[in-house]
Parts: sequence; C-alpha cells; structure tokens
Amino acid sequence: MSNHLSNRITNMSTSATLAMAAKARELRNSGKDIIGLSLGEPDFNIPDFIKDAAKQAIDDNYSSYSPVDGYADLKQSIANKFKRDNNLTYGLNQIVVSTGAKQSLANIAMCMLNKGDEVILPAPYWVSYSDIVKLAEGTPVEVPTSIDTDFKMTPAQLEAAITPNTKMMWFSSPCNPSGSVYSKEELEGLAEVLKKHPNIYVVSDEIYEHINFRGGHVSIAGIDGMYNRTITVNGVSKAFAMTGWRIGYIGAPESIAKACTKFQGQNTSGANAIAQRATIAALDAPVSKIQFMIDEFHKRRDLILELLGEIEGFKLNVPEGAFYVFPDISDFFGKTLNGTTINTASDFSMYLLENANVATVTGEAFGNPNCIRISYAAAEKELREAVSRIKAVL
Ligand SMILES: Cc1ncc(COP(=O)(O)O)c(C=O)c1O
Repeated sequence: MSNHLSNRITNMSTSATLAMAAKARELRNSGKDIIGLSLGEPDFNIPDFIKDAAKQAIDDNYSSYSPVDGYADLKQSIANKFKRDNNLTYGLNQIVVSTGAKQSLANIAMCMLNKGDEVILPAPYWVSYSDIVKLAEGTPVEVPTSIDTDFKMTPAQLEAAITPNTKMMWFSSPCNPSGSVYSKEELEGLAEVLKKHPNIYVVSDEIYEHINFRGGHVSIAGIDGMYNRTITVNGVSKAFAMTGWRIGYIGAPESIAKACTKFQGQNTSGANAIAQRATIAALDAPVSKIQFMIDEFHKRRDLILELLGEIEGFKLNVPEGAFYVFPDISDFFGKTLNGTTINTASDFSMYLLENANVATVTGEAFGNPNCIRISYAAAEKELREAVSRIKAVL
C-alpha cells in the first residue's frame, strides 16, 4: 500500500487555516475553552432576504444541473454588480460562476499555467495561492513585503521579480491576511510596470471588496491598459456571510472564461443550483443591506487594534479592510515564555493555543515568517477575552 497517493497530493500542504480550525475543534471537544480566531469566516447569519430566495428556489424546483458557467440571470446580476460597484463592463460570456472563489482561482491556475510558469505573489498572500499555483505546476515567486510598507508591494519590487518566465501576478485587495488596501495610485504604479510586460496577466482577488474601511474600492481591471489582462475574482462568502453556500465568480477575457467553463465542465459541472439562485438576491440588493456587518467589522477592527496595541512586542499596521490583524511578533523570537522557547511565528501561535486557549494562524502559511494572523470576525466579548488571555500568557 506504500506510495498509493500521487506526488501531487503528497507535495501539497494542508491549508494552515483549516488545520488550525480543526486543531481548535479537537481541543474544544476535549473540554478546553478555546476561542477560535483562526478562520476567515463572518460570524453573522445570512441576511433573511437571501435565505428567502434560497427557500423559494427549492420550492420552484431548481433541482437540475445548472449551465456549467452559471444561470444566465445570475450572470446578468454579476454583470450588473461589476458595473455598479466597479465600473467594469463584462459581457455574460466573460463571467463564470464557480463553487467558491477558491474554485475560481483553481480554474484559472489550471487553465492558464504551464509547467514552470512563474506567478508573482506579493507576500503575505492568501494561504491557498501558493498551493493552487503549484498544483497547476506553476512556480510561485514570493515578493516579501513588511509592515514598513503596510505589507504592499512597490512597483520597484514588482519590476525586480519579473523574469522571462513570469506569466501572472496574483494579489488580494483588501488583503487577506494583512487587511491592506491598495489605493488607485498604488495600483496605477503597478500597472505602469506591467505596461512594459504585456504578456503578464493579473488575478485580482476582490472577495473583501465591501469590507473596506477607507471607502472606495479600486479594481485594477479599471486601470488604463489592464482590462484585457486581468481576471477579477469575487464571491459572496465574505460580504454576505455565505461561506458555506460556496459561490464565487470571475469576470475575465472571453477566452479565459471559456477555458474555465470547459475545465469546470469536467470537474464539478457547475455550482450548486439553490445557492446560485440565492446569490441573485444577494447581488441585486443595494450594498446598504449589508452595511451593518461592515460597520460592525470596522468597530471591532478599532477595538482589537486598541487592545493589542497595549501588548508590548506586537507591531501593528492599521488594516483598512477584510477582518484580520497581522501583527509582527518577531520581538518574541529567542525568548522563553513559561518554559517554551519561541523561535518562529508557528511556535508563537502554538504557544497561544496551548497556553491562552486562543487559536490564531502562523504568518508562515501566508509567506511571512514574522507575523501571526488574528481574525476579528468574532463577538466583541470574545475578542476582549482572547486579548486579555494573550496578554496574561505573554
Ligand atoms: C483572499 C481570499 N480569496 C478567496 C477566498 C475563498 O473564498 P470562497 O469561500 O469564495 O472560496 C478567501 C477565503 O478565505 C480569501 O480570503
């Protein structure tokens, strides 16, 4: 029975965020009072108007396979949303609906990368980018950033990372895990570099678009010269608290959308029918319907920054979006706390889990070895308790 698994799966890392959540669940089941701040999941219920649309879809017998790339009326709602929120014009033949943005990203990698193609990932990056790229035999090229530049890649760094093998650049803004939001000027700076390299495509992961506290989300596809070389990725998991319903989508050049549909046709046959119907209600609604969640995240962002700011050794940027803080905790490296020596961010995160019963995620999983990620998608009471426990064990 040895070697019965493929090299592909053997070489893949387990999602660190899901692994930490599983570990926290295990400890909780064994009776420990764990506060889970490791998962990127809104703690709100799905708004009723979206639930009602799903119930209606069941009653209306949406029980067959949908078109592989999504229902046409859902794609129309997505096209309207792109126009309304991002001033981007995508025809229905440029839109593909998938089983979560994660699948959208996997489709893109499988459809666009050949062995050895390089994909620039400004680090920290979302935990799955690197393994998705590797699964498609691409080569991730990490561009490290630090708290000093608010964890954003500069045009000079991008320029320096480009080689003749560069095929794509993938990034998220607002960023998971740093919460950083690229301004229009910053994106224009990156686009200026890309102008000199017309064969490089950009994957712009905008799943946190609405959870943006500076206001004014900017899509790189809207920047001069970028539309035909950008794949805009989005979904309903974060803004509408619909993580388990698994709907993501892309707006892309037609040939790429067509390829993703072909690939998906051999993989999933398309996304869940009921969730697609509910997504129409979500996307057709004005953003004001979800403003209460955004306001709440904003309040919690301020709270957690204030609380963590009182802990010596935590260096913090001010995240302008998403629902994470990404403190640099490298000041603790080399120190021994209650008999445990902390040499890495993993050691630190594990120390917090075992001693403070607080689950976080090591920054190493996001390509940054100096930080940990703390999700503040949790109730205020839990956040206060978590930080007070962390403080106590440090
Ligand atoms: C930056 C980023 N992109 C994509 C995803 C995947 O989202 P979905 O639930 O739509 O697969 C996540 C989820 O954590 C994310 O943080």
